[in-house]
Amino acid sequence: TEQTYIMVKPDGVQRGLVGDIISRFEKRGYKLVGLKMATPGKDHLEKHYADLSSKAFFPGLISYMNSGPVVGMVWEGRDAVKTGRVMLGATDPLKSDPGSIRGAYALEVGRNVCHGSDTVENAQKEIKLWFPEGLNSWTSAAYNWVYEK
Ligand code: GTP
Ligand code: MG
Repeated sequence: TEQTYIMVKPDGVQRGLVGDIISRFEKRGYKLVGLKMATPGKDHLEKHYADLSSKAFFPGLISYMNSGPVVGMVWEGRDAVKTGRVMLGATDPLKSDPGSIRGAYALEVGRNVCHGSDTVENAQKEIKLWFPEGLNSWTSAAYNWVYEK
């Protein structure tokens, strides 16, 4: 089954959005297999966003991400990566669907509340980076109420 790494950024934690963001994924039908608060520091955050290291906004992005604890989670279920991105909304909150997390709670790209893996391959890399200890395997009692087969 597909897994994606979703993270509440420091602004989302400060603004009390952790519960809402978890709730949206939980209610959608995804299964939580990893969850933790972390203050990982610059080196770890630079690894997470390594693909963006040449961008002009990179230093600002790292200091934003390093400004407080984040809450990282792994959600498992059908089309988790792509559907997760739809649930977060466009990178620029002003272009996000109002029903999405960013479209509901953010106004600026540099304070956009949450992160979501962009491909299945990157999701697996991010999960290894943030959860080197591994994930939790469990059978959801709701499975047959979420999936037809
Ligand atoms: P993530 O889920 O956080 O990875 O966002 P994304 O995949 O929607 O966008 P991307 O990976 O391209 O950029 C990572 C993060 O860098 C964004 O979520 C923004 O917080 C920030 N960012 C991206 N583009 C800009 C920009 O043009 N200006 C500023 N200030 N920040 C940006
Ligand atoms: Mg990204």
